[in-house]
Amino acid sequence: MRRVLLALGVALPFLFGAALVASAANEGHPRGAAAVDQARLLGADGEPGSWMTVGRTYSEQRYSPLTAINKATVGKLSLAWYADLDTERGQEATPLVVDGALYVSTAWSIVKAYDARTGEKLWEYEPKVDRAATGQIACCDVVNRGVAAWKGRIYLGALDGRLIALDAKTGKPVWSVRTVKLNDPCTITQAPKVVKGLVIIGNAGAEYTCRGYVSAYDAETGKMRWRFYTVPGAPGDPTNTAMLKRAAKTWHGDFWKYGGGATAWDTILYDPKTNLVYFGTGNGLSWPQEIRSPGGGDNLFVSSIIAVNADTGAYAWHYQETPGDQWDYDNTNPLMTADLKIHGQPRHVLMQAPKTGFFYVWDARTGQLLSAEKFAPANWASKIDLKTGRPVENPAARYTSTKAALVYPGPLGAHNWHPMAFSPRTGLVYIPVTENNVGLVGEKPEGFKLNDRAYNIGALLESDAITKLYAAPGAPQRGNIRSYIQAWDPARGREVWRIPNTVYGASGTLVTASDLLFSGSAAGDFAAYDARTGARLWNAPTQALVVAAPSTYAIGGEQYVALLVGARGLPKGQVRTSLQSANNSRLMVFKLGGTAKLPTEAVGPANITLGALDPPLLTGSNEQVISGQGAYHRVCAGCHGAGAVSDKSVPDLRHSPVLRSLTEWNSIVLLGARAGNGMGAFKTQLAEGEAESIFHYVISQANKDKAAEQAAARK
Ligand code: HEC
Repeated sequence: MRRVLLALGVALPFLFGAALVASAANEGHPRGAAAVDQARLLGADGEPGSWMTVGRTYSEQRYSPLTAINKATVGKLSLAWYADLDTERGQEATPLVVDGALYVSTAWSIVKAYDARTGEKLWEYEPKVDRAATGQIACCDVVNRGVAAWKGRIYLGALDGRLIALDAKTGKPVWSVRTVKLNDPCTITQAPKVVKGLVIIGNAGAEYTCRGYVSAYDAETGKMRWRFYTVPGAPGDPTNTAMLKRAAKTWHGDFWKYGGGATAWDTILYDPKTNLVYFGTGNGLSWPQEIRSPGGGDNLFVSSIIAVNADTGAYAWHYQETPGDQWDYDNTNPLMTADLKIHGQPRHVLMQAPKTGFFYVWDARTGQLLSAEKFAPANWASKIDLKTGRPVENPAARYTSTKAALVYPGPLGAHNWHPMAFSPRTGLVYIPVTENNVGLVGEKPEGFKLNDRAYNIGALLESDAITKLYAAPGAPQRGNIRSYIQAWDPARGREVWRIPNTVYGASGTLVTASDLLFSGSAAGDFAAYDARTGARLWNAPTQALVVAAPSTYAIGGEQYVALLVGARGLPKGQVRTSLQSANNSRLMVFKLGGTAKLPTEAVGPANITLGALDPPLLTGSNEQVISGQGAYHRVCAGCHGAGAVSDKSVPDLRHSPVLRSLTEWNSIVLLGARAGNGMGAFKTQLAEGEAESIFHYVISQANKDKAAEQAAARK
């Protein structure tokens, strides 16, 4: 009955009156109760005003039944309230809303709670991760993708590997456990998932020698209940189950010395119909097999989907998307379950659009591959053989230390962690697609030195051989090509339409029962589209880059849409308007007829919008530039970008004022002058003179790119 009332409450707010609807939307729980249990999560569709788990329901479809904001009313959508965030790295979390409170996690694993209607701040929890130490082992920014709510508590996976239970009313920690051993180079950026009283969490850090695993902890006590390792450990290691001993036969050499990788760093999905928990695993260390597993092999369970029993963690099935992966094709990307009609047959499926460029659909219970069609250009494989389930690989894409390859998609993938949404009404999945490519050549195995505080990919992203490949006729333009939101029909395995982005980038999506599709952009706005045609219906400026996905909820008969904005840099032409963060990181909440306004005045220190390149003249020798190029790509490129072009979350060094002072450069790079901001000291990872060589290499790149920019401007 409660649920019937609720559904009515949302549909007919004005008849019932705001007070009744408000209490119904809160299920009668006091504000901040976070009284989420299994029954409530399973019945989430009967409670459309709440957003109780990152993908709204266990299916992770990010589909909302709310309809008050629809094609007729969306024109009146405007800012209801906003909150400035005090961090200026990537904001990737989806806000949770339950019992009148809204919970977000921000960069550096900080959790904040607000009154979901008014924006009044309720509490904040700062886990105080050691920023210098963890910033150095977080490959791809110090982000956090969300929290979980369960029985009056909010669960956070902190960057330093702690799993922390917070009191949902006060934000005070109730318990905290280390899910990774002290000093192990494993980090957490994903949202935990609570299933029947178990908090499930994995980790990240394959490039830093982390051995992947997923664990389940008792939500009440923090006691570990099960753990599933994703790759075998050293021979004789007590964690090697019978399954892992079989997996070890697909490896060669002393692979365990490199950690193994296969970290499950993003989606953890639970399916009540199968009682399975699914997660994807990432790449192995190193990327090329010549170092990781000389002689090849599938290297299970690198780059795979793994299904385990939710109660025990026992293996159920796996599917390896890239056997013997060499391209950083993580399979950790968003997973969802759905009921589709495939070839006329109703099927309960699991689906994913991972980095590889193929959209995979599996039978959720058995793991049988039902379809795998290309959703973006991919040259590493021509197709996936449905009989064997294996890719038909392009031999030219398998690089070694003596053979370079030009591969697409590149390591950032055709689709990465950015949430995708599925509407059961349109039958379409809305995927933020990025088309890109990479040149790769393996490091000489004898020259490969492992460092568990550095990015060890064992491959170079730049070399003469790679330059030649890009210069060959028919080669694609290097790097990032284009991006768009793609409407994909998963039942037929084909694209239906796409919305091209004006600025390259990817942001998460949300779709509603009124056939509205919501997504932000790297152009600095948040838009609503017709989910059937892709027509743009509404947009609002965000003053910030958007990478996260929105969520939507209702209180007091009013529907709200909430979104975190902010990533390194600002949209073109945008000034800094927040005193608290250089990239205008904020939580923005919209409703029909909202009257809040973002500030527009420029504030704070210098505007960080990148102007034209203006580097000092190159004074280093040719030898220094070449040696600097190698050292840069070994140690710095993981964060600052290949070719010194940053497209991630950290400064573009070609633009750095520090290029004017080698002394300042050395104090940052060798001694850790910026350690508090996630730029640790690299002294132990660089040989004598290498910091200076990198300095000259970056200046050389900046001058080359400046010349190219000027030549292009003259055309
Ligand atoms: C783990 C990621 C990471 C790695 C690896 C990394 N950096 Fe950084 N770097 C950062 C971050 C984050 C900042 C921004 C710090 C701040 O906001 O002050 C930064 C800032 C810098 C700056 C200051 C730029 C400016 O204009 O303020 C320099 C110089 C720099 N890095 C050089 C290097 C060099 C050289 C290497 C390789 C030896 C390297 N970094 C490796 C993350 C990294």
